[in-house]
Amino acid sequence: MKNYAKHFLFFAAAIMIATASMAQVKSKKASAAKKQQPAKQEAAPININMGTTGQKGDKTLYADEWTVPASTLKFMQLPYAYDALEPVIDKLTVEIHYSRHHRAYYDNFLKAIAGTDMEKMNIYDIFFKISDLPAAVRNNAGGYFNHALYWHNMSQKGGGNPSGELARAIDRTFGSFDEFKKRFDDAAKTRFGSGWAWLAVDLKSGELFVSSTANQDNPLMNTESNRGFPILGIDVWEHAYYLKYQNKRADYVESFWKIINWNDVEARYTHFLQTREKFLR
Ligand SMILES: [Fe+2]
Repeated sequence: MKNYAKHFLFFAAAIMIATASMAQVKSKKASAAKKQQPAKQEAAPININMGTTGQKGDKTLYADEWTVPASTLKFMQLPYAYDALEPVIDKLTVEIHYSRHHRAYYDNFLKAIAGTDMEKMNIYDIFFKISDLPAAVRNNAGGYFNHALYWHNMSQKGGGNPSGELARAIDRTFGSFDEFKKRFDDAAKTRFGSGWAWLAVDLKSGELFVSSTANQDNPLMNTESNRGFPILGIDVWEHAYYLKYQNKRADYVESFWKIINWNDVEARYTHFLQTREKFLR
């Protein structure tokens, strides 16, 4: 009986030691695996091959810089500090709008195309057949692209009137800058619910037009009756202005004119005209 108890105690001790050493090995393996995991990628800084207008160092997002496979597109850097558009657009609005809203559209766009043929398509080809694609692609591809354009459309040195070829095209199309401004304002103020107002270039004729789109749609999408390449866009979702302007969308739209980066709009316009054949389908 005594020997039996001794054997039992020895056996129990052996099991306890074996269990403890297995747990130790497991914990070492887990910690080694943790060490081997790559560091989580930071959201910024990354850019979308941004070009420059060559004027006063302002940056422009050119039309043909989006012609890479969609899965390789990066989240753009904001071209200025969060407070750069004060007092027209307050710092907190820009920060939340860029780092939360825009970032979410980008992340969700990549998620929506992951593992599909769309990863290899460029974003224009996605827009051109958007009616056949899932709503998550339509909303997030639009949100990602539209906001990139919007940030570049504004500058703390903005305001005033356009010049050069763009100014001549606006006069030719609308009769005057004031008439264009009126149409753009109307499009922005009367868009029901959330959406955008645009100045765009007709893909086929190269002529300018003003339109507005719902949600995160844009004039490149094949769901639009006015199809064109947008060169100026204003976001009229409440998240773009509510903190400062509350329900007064009209005041936000009026103030927007003080920060329009015409160098960017004009550079995108002339560059698009030179490369338009790439966008014809
Ligand atoms: Fe927005």
